[in-house]
Amino acid sequence: MTFPPAFLDELRVRLPLSGIVGKRVRLLRAGREFKACCPFHNEKSPSFYVNDDKQFYHCFGCGAHGDVIGFTMRHDGLSFPEAIESLAAQAGLSVPQDTPVEREHFDREKRLYQLLERATAWFEEQLFAPHGREALAYLRQRGLSEEAMRRFHLGFAPNDSQALPHKLTGEGFKLDELLAVGLIKKAEDRPDHFSFFRNRVMFPVGDRRGRTVAFGGRVMGDGEPKYLNSPDHALFHKGKLLYGLSRARAAIAQNQPIIVVEGYMDVIALVEAGYQGAVAPLGTALTEDQLGILWKLPPPPESRDGSRDYSPLLCFDGDGAGLRAAARAVERALPLITASQTVRVAYLPSGEDPDSLIKQSGKAAMQAVLDQAKPMIDVLWDLTLEGRRLQTPEDRGNFISAIRQRVARIGDEGLRKLYQDEVQQRLAATFQWQPQAAQTPRAPWQGNARQGAFRKDGKRGFAFPISTLPPKQPLNAQNLRERVLLALMINYPALFKDFGEDLARIGFATPPLEALRQQVVDILSSDSHETLDASELYRHLSEGGTTKAWCAGLANVLEEATYMRAGFARPNRSLDEARHGWKSIWNNHLRELIQPELKNAERLFAEDPSLANKARRDELRLECETLLRESARDGAEDGAFEPGLLPPS
Ligand code: UTP
Ligand code: MN
Repeated sequence: MTFPPAFLDELRVRLPLSGIVGKRVRLLRAGREFKACCPFHNEKSPSFYVNDDKQFYHCFGCGAHGDVIGFTMRHDGLSFPEAIESLAAQAGLSVPQDTPVEREHFDREKRLYQLLERATAWFEEQLFAPHGREALAYLRQRGLSEEAMRRFHLGFAPNDSQALPHKLTGEGFKLDELLAVGLIKKAEDRPDHFSFFRNRVMFPVGDRRGRTVAFGGRVMGDGEPKYLNSPDHALFHKGKLLYGLSRARAAIAQNQPIIVVEGYMDVIALVEAGYQGAVAPLGTALTEDQLGILWKLPPPPESRDGSRDYSPLLCFDGDGAGLRAAARAVERALPLITASQTVRVAYLPSGEDPDSLIKQSGKAAMQAVLDQAKPMIDVLWDLTLEGRRLQTPEDRGNFISAIRQRVARIGDEGLRKLYQDEVQQRLAATFQWQPQAAQTPRAPWQGNARQGAFRKDGKRGFAFPISTLPPKQPLNAQNLRERVLLALMINYPALFKDFGEDLARIGFATPPLEALRQQVVDILSSDSHETLDASELYRHLSEGGTTKAWCAGLANVLEEATYMRAGFARPNRSLDEARHGWKSIWNNHLRELIQPELKNAERLFAEDPSLANKARRDELRLECETLLRESARDGAEDGAFEPGLLPPS
């Protein structure tokens, strides 16, 4: 549709830009102009200027620039004619009639929208009609209330392939219109048409304004294909829309996060649990266009000042396919990310999707997954590490070039440099143990925390320049064992039943780890927490705020450097593996603590063979032997740590 230039000028004159912008963004006067924090990118100090005389806005931060029409299109997510319509209404003007060809095109689109709206309503009616009984039962059995079904306008496409065309042509729609939006198909061998969706539960897909433009239809129970989706047509392009988008747009204003999931049912489960910002691609991998749509949504009020990260959370299923989908999405995003336009990835427990997790473990479990979303840098690191061993220098060399290649794909130069720095620093922290002054550790029964023993020769691996960023906690054998034990207990709280007493009995050497140990013991030994699962425990820990001593420990424990050397401590391994790992590390840990004490007792007894000294020496000997026997019995003597990475102790 074209509009006469005079009409557009009239709009611009009647609607001063500052008035339109000021309804959506808080404006401050700045001489003859206004300024504000830019609604189109994330910033702390205003670089967005509005000039009524010149009738344009300009952002010196992100380069956004345009007039009142452009602002309305971008801010409200409208097309050009839609923006004009909206502005004309605000100005009290009527939109001029356009050429006959345009008029026809416009009318046809309008009819197609009406048709899709009618089809939505008809499918919905069928769900609650007698022949929809099975479909209704199916949706109920999937945990949906009738209100939820109504909220999402879920429906049922009956098996009768003529029912829908019959009904809608009866209302005056043409077969060719039904054909155009993919509701019917032409039979190959006969002249008639039949419904595309038959005997399926229907999920209407809304465009960014919420108007139905397509459908997903699911078989009830097993059957192939599981979901059938409308083909692309004039009003619908799969790769340029997301299921749930219009609701998510509105949800941002309430500071709700954008959560990208895989399926229709996942969006519904999340919205029903209160996450209105849930969206899903439509049966394809997440596209660049879809990422672009999410990044262009106006940021939530709370993060206009740049103080909060509101980047979309990608939350893929916790299975092989989900991980591959996440990896693909990350590879797509890499060339496009900037400091204010990035993604985070939340990993679901294996075998779960958001729908099943919420149903089985509740909203808290989902929230814990979201709370643990990893920033892009961690995702890249893990993705590159996946399936690799880092035992030989060649392994490590290959890992390093792989991660550098990934980082090199980041398009934004400034961000790429920051990633390069961070990667360099992580490599240094991962491959180098920092020796510290030697001290004798206390015996286990002495309990309280103290600096651990370090060996001068504990250093190995690559010598990268240590960057100027604050150093990570030094990695020596004892500190590493403490980390692994804590990671095990946090990721597998079920271990507490058998090993909680051990953990409660012995203090850790590194202060933040000791603080964390106490906190974990406190939480898990309280009666009400007997059945706490990992995500709930993590929630308890992270609810402590960020200033508590153990938080520093937590950050150090649940990180790649721990998992890299003790894969069995990773979340999503089996409890058996974790149990086996615990025994091995714990034995090791005790022995390492007792041995210096035993040497000391033997020396004392040699110098002064008193009864007391003998008793002490024998007690320690016995303890040492018991530990050795136990680890021999468990066969856990070696193979627990990745052997090539275990620092000598
Ligand atoms: P999933 O197979 O993960 O299904 O497909 P789901 O969302 O968990 O569905 P339920 O819980 O079994 O009902 C994820 C998404 O991939 C698309 C759909 O959009 C689906 O929601 N898909 C899947 C298809 O388009 N076609 C298919 O045959 C399968
Ligand atoms: Mn599912």
